[in-house]
Amino acid sequence: MSEAAARREGGEDPSVARLRDEVWERLNRRVLSSRWFYDRRGSELFEAITRLPEYYPTRTELALLEAGAREWMGRLRPGVFVELGAGSARKTRVLLDALQERRPGAVYVPLDVSAEFLEATAAELRVEYPDLRIEPEVGDLTRPLVLERHGEPPTLFAFLGSTLGNFPPPAAVSVLRHVHDAMAPGDIFLLGADLRPGPGKTVEELEAAYDDAQGITADFNRNMLRVLNHRTGTDFEPEAWLHRAFYDADAGWIEMHLVTPEGAEITVPGRGTVRLAPGESLRTEVSSKYDRPTLDGLFGAADLEIVEWVTDPRQRYAMVFARRAS
Ligand code: TRP
Repeated sequence: MSEAAARREGGEDPSVARLRDEVWERLNRRVLSSRWFYDRRGSELFEAITRLPEYYPTRTELALLEAGAREWMGRLRPGVFVELGAGSARKTRVLLDALQERRPGAVYVPLDVSAEFLEATAAELRVEYPDLRIEPEVGDLTRPLVLERHGEPPTLFAFLGSTLGNFPPPAAVSVLRHVHDAMAPGDIFLLGADLRPGPGKTVEELEAAYDDAQGITADFNRNMLRVLNHRTGTDFEPEAWLHRAFYDADAGWIEMHLVTPEGAEITVPGRGTVRLAPGESLRTEVSSKYDRPTLDGLFGAADLEIVEWVTDPRQRYAMVFARRAS
């Protein structure tokens, strides 16, 4: 029977069925998945977050890239530059300007889960960078990375935006493992990593980056409930949930939650109803904050070795270079 026919018979589209199973299971644990932030509106809200006065990571990383890119590209002269995850256009261009200047003819490989996003970006970049080859690949960092051979060694892999921090530590090691396994000896990995509170960063500043005065981050957080209603037929009332973000110093991460002050009953079609008491919350995201020993540990567990550590003067953010330890 075709999928359309199955739906007419009252069955479920298999991808909807899988999603409902996962939502049901996670709701019972009170932990949702950050994959569900993103639809069109979610991506726009996230783009708005990166421009907020409180959200220092994007600006700080961009400044570090602007200060270092030409020197790094001149030193490494990568024949291939693989960017892991949807790059923000602004950051990518700083690196591509430097790459095109220092190694014309090199290949830029943007890797993302969304083929649609990749093709749109690639078409623009081909016009802007006639001296580079733009060869996108679809890939998911939670799986082993299988890459075509795109050009001459060495390959520079970059994973920016402190996105690694959105993977809880065991998952982060597995992402780093996948990078390690895709690297050849002589290749370099560049990670953008947001750092823990310290003399140049108070806990208040850190928390404000995830709870801005205009409420954009709150709206981004609530968007997950709209996405779930739309994709799975759940009956969340997004406006009834409050955004909460706090730094957990023991875990070394920011947690984002949605709190139900009045309590809530959510029905997942075909699965059941979950009841939350007043004041209960659902965790929607973690964003790990790093220091050198922590990253040495995570990299070491993935057989990677940090070879250079560059921070802004206030030590709020680090650009970390690593190679294969073996
Ligand atoms: N990786 C970034 C960070 O953790 C971006 C991000 C992911 C984010 N989820 C978020 C930013 C939620 C704000 C709110 O900072």
